[in-house]
Amino acid sequence: MKNIFEIAASCLHSADVKEKLRLTHQARFYLEQGELSFNNSCAVADIACVKFPAQPEWLAPRFVPKRKLTAPGGVAAFFHAIAHIEFVAIYLAWDILYRFRGLPDEFYQDWLRIADEEAQHFELICQHMADLGMAYGDLPAHGGLWELAQATADDLLARLALVPRCMEARGLDVTPGLISKFEKLQDTASIAVLERILTDEVGHVERGSYWFRWVCTQQDKAPEDSYRNLLLAYYEGGKPKGPFNREMRIIAGFSASELDWLEAAL
Ligand SMILES: [Fe+2]
Ligand SMILES: [Fe+2]
Repeated sequence: MKNIFEIAASCLHSADVKEKLRLTHQARFYLEQGELSFNNSCAVADIACVKFPAQPEWLAPRFVPKRKLTAPGGVAAFFHAIAHIEFVAIYLAWDILYRFRGLPDEFYQDWLRIADEEAQHFELICQHMADLGMAYGDLPAHGGLWELAQATADDLLARLALVPRCMEARGLDVTPGLISKFEKLQDTASIAVLERILTDEVGHVERGSYWFRWVCTQQDKAPEDSYRNLLLAYYEGGKPKGPFNREMRIIAGFSASELDWLEAAL
């Protein structure tokens, strides 16, 4: 039997991209074969031990050059930014699984499947970028995506509110508009990549909503009040800006009143 937390540690504490992808797919395979142990006796290392590759360079968002899709290299630069989001998403899925212990096996199975899907998204984009003459690491990347993981390393409810139910949910809001832009450019290869990712991401946010409510029940907390309070406590600016994709967010487990609150001005 392979141990899920030992594989998680190998993925989080090594900067080797290829090895991380291989281990992530292999862990999913072990899970589906029933060869994965959930014995959680191995110690949890501090989040500061998580290692990222030397390339791409991480920059504060205001220093990351912005290029229009229609500018030369614009589409490749856009996909480099998305590749980085997916790459960090692999870490986010492994980290929630690794750090928070004592939950039902289904919790760990869900986040392992999500880690594997994020790895697939990353590979899909890398293939697409290769066709455009770009590789991951060729451009600098958004340095802020890991900050919420660090800020919520000791609080599972905050992690669920801020990562799947805030950061990843943002993808549901913006991706349909991005797909429309590529429709105008008649770029069917790019549309196919984005549509595949969007379909999976609804499922990731839904798992975030499901486990958020589950943990609230365990801690005897009201889910909607907790969601609001955690966003106000952890999200810079109090809450994210819309417009919000109500239809997809409802499928992904948001309640109408959570969406009303998000849409209302602070
Ligand atoms: Fe993804
Ligand atoms: Fe995701």
